[in-house]
Amino acid sequence: MTAFDHLKNQLLAEPKVWLVTGVAGFIGSNLLETLLCLNQRVIGLDNYSTGFRHNLEQVRELVGTERWQNFRQMEGDIRDLETCKQATNGVKFVLHQAALGSVPRSLANPAETHANNVTGFLNMLMAARDNGVMRLVYASSSSVYGDHPALPKMEHNIGHCLSPYAVTKLADELYARVFASCYGLENAGLRYFNVFGPRQNPDGPYAAVIPKWIAAMMRNEPVQIHGDGETTRDFCYVANVVQANLLAATVPTSGTMGGIYNVAVCARTSLNQLYALLRGKLLAAYPHLRDSRPVYGHFRAGDVRHSEADISKAEHSLGYKPSHTVAQGLSEALDWYRQNCN
Ligand SMILES: NC(=O)c1ccc[n+]([C@@H]2O[C@H](COP(=O)([O-])OP(=O)(O)OC[C@H]3O[C@@H](n4cnc5c(N)ncnc54)[C@H](O)[C@@H]3O)[C@@H](O)[C@H]2O)c1
Repeated sequence: MTAFDHLKNQLLAEPKVWLVTGVAGFIGSNLLETLLCLNQRVIGLDNYSTGFRHNLEQVRELVGTERWQNFRQMEGDIRDLETCKQATNGVKFVLHQAALGSVPRSLANPAETHANNVTGFLNMLMAARDNGVMRLVYASSSSVYGDHPALPKMEHNIGHCLSPYAVTKLADELYARVFASCYGLENAGLRYFNVFGPRQNPDGPYAAVIPKWIAAMMRNEPVQIHGDGETTRDFCYVANVVQANLLAATVPTSGTMGGIYNVAVCARTSLNQLYALLRGKLLAAYPHLRDSRPVYGHFRAGDVRHSEADISKAEHSLGYKPSHTVAQGLSEALDWYRQNCN
């Protein structure tokens, strides 16, 4: 039995009250789905800036009416301290996902990214501290590694940030550590590496590569690769991220006083390999892909060349054990992509 299986049994036996910020987004809605399936009580905060009500509708259909009763939606903005205080009232665990993602978005509008990702986060820390939240787990990012060349990435070895987005996530980590040491607020930061799965938005200028490419392939539109395609990423299926969040929220205290953990699979996939993998999975249903080739363009500003996580810290301290490889995650999510990315 894995640590996560053990935890799920514990939670089923003794449900808790959770706050998920960014609940209408990709990762937030997946956290919500798992928590409701485990009969937990969940408050979900979102301002719907990049999240969608239809994500919540999909979760409602998946978990059924009875479990849905355990969910309370709250529309609001983490840039407002009072909202954060209301949302954290009576909550045991906070899973903080609300932020503006995307390196290019932060380059286009650094002030907006800062306000949501740093000021909003600081509000959440203060609210959690003042309301006696037991532990806050928050979404950091592999972008914090910046220009550090070492591979695989280890938590203590970070370079210079390459984008305003990376700065915001690093600032969050610094604030979280200080809230642990100065106020005793238990917290853990999870550096996610290129997450993918159901309910990740395939559209818009800031869409992530996997849903964007799948949508383009299904629609018979060109797939654009930035650079030569040999850029690598440690793509991580969302079920692994959900697992890491629940473990980080509940493991015994040591290590969660401002600890930082990589959340990934520890495998490198190049963009060319990803293209071949996706095409292979879709070919049977979309025969037009037989003759398709990607279009290569310029490298993008702010992008790192290679990314692969060392996940031993999360394995040892949290009991994290990825349940899905990239290929397994893509297979599991394929139906969702077919129904939602056409
Ligand atoms: N998806 C990835 O690959 C990835 C990688 C690294 C880190 N992250 C981080 O994980 C978290 C979740 O990302 P996601 O991919 O689910 O993105 P997402 O855009 O799908 O979800 C973010 C959610 O937060 C909400 N939100 C944004 N600003 C808010 C505010 N001021 N007040 C209230 N709600 C607000 C949005 O409406 C949205 O529902 C983010 O913190 C992101 O930076 C994601």
